[in-house]
Amino acid sequence: MSVAAHFSEAYGRPPVAVWAAPGRVNLIGEHTDYNEGFVLPLALDRRTLVAAAPAEGATTVRSSREAEPVAFAAATVVPGEVTGWAAYVAGVVWAFREAGLPVVDLDLFVEGDVPVGAGLSSSASLECAVAVALAELTGTALDLTEVAQLARRAENEFVGAPTGGMDQMAAMHGVADRLVFLDTRSDQVELIPFALAAHGLRLLVIDTRAPHRLVDGQYGARRADCAKAAELLGVPALRDATADSVETLADERLRRRARHVVTEDERVLEVVDRLRAGKDPRTIGPLLAASHASMRDDFEITVPHVDVAAAVAEEAGAHGARMTGGGFGGCVIALVDTETGDRVTDAVTGAYAERGWDAPVVFDAVAADGAGRA
Ligand code: GLA
Repeated sequence: MSVAAHFSEAYGRPPVAVWAAPGRVNLIGEHTDYNEGFVLPLALDRRTLVAAAPAEGATTVRSSREAEPVAFAAATVVPGEVTGWAAYVAGVVWAFREAGLPVVDLDLFVEGDVPVGAGLSSSASLECAVAVALAELTGTALDLTEVAQLARRAENEFVGAPTGGMDQMAAMHGVADRLVFLDTRSDQVELIPFALAAHGLRLLVIDTRAPHRLVDGQYGARRADCAKAAELLGVPALRDATADSVETLADERLRRRARHVVTEDERVLEVVDRLRAGKDPRTIGPLLAASHASMRDDFEITVPHVDVAAAVAEEAGAHGARMTGGGFGGCVIALVDTETGDRVTDAVTGAYAERGWDAPVVFDAVAADGAGRA
């Protein structure tokens, strides 16, 4: 049944329309966004769909994944009042109000195929889909970056997750066959060609399904380390530090954290240079591998499931592989020749079986368009 049909069944009338926003994978540039650095994600062809129509008296959110609807008042909802998955919806409504934009109560039905809890930004896709629906239904003209900033505010200040802005910007600015090169200091976007099939390449997403561990606390701890390192170096953000300057940090842990961020920014810029110049995308493989090593050894955000997937993928012929997203589980991406993809998938699946781990779920990353009418 379509999301519009679900809406009609639940609310007894059809929706005005269906809006959608994609999940993302990040090709390279991890934990650089809250350091005012560079990221290079792509929007996936997996999306969150939101069917919506104005309602009287209250906003109601339903999903085929959830037994119970959640209700709140658009005019008064505040942080803490709505928790769980519906907080991403209520947070967007609240962020509009905080920005002085009009809000209305809505009936909403949410569905989608962005895996939840896999580090593919299902939450940002939900926020952005709700934001474009609310903007259109209130007749509010916003550009892509303004929507992304409202969605991020919902995530940071309503949900309370201290993330950077990459995921929402990717969900809004994504374009088919393009990477979203984002300078997170200026929020300037440049679309970079990424037509893999034309080069005989695939980008595999290996969802490791690693058991989750303390993700929130660890993410905040990394943020705090980066802020401390920037303060000690006397720069506004680690984006302004140099590879040489971070080696002067006396604290060993802070030195490694800062080294990751500075070298990761350099790797993003190098990947962008190569792709912009039309070089064979295979040449970025070693930079993906170096990014993974930096996350493993310096930033310490990988876990055995992702380390094994990245290492085995490269042994089986991937040009480069790295964890993507916030860390402590989630997904690994692997750049592979079209004909090598199945061998890489089989090798990682086999390595997991040998260790008694659940099989990974592997699919192709297809760079798709950002949020809008479905
Ligand atoms: C999560 C956050 C992003 C970013 C990545 C790490 O996805 O939501 O803002 O910090 O982790 O690169």
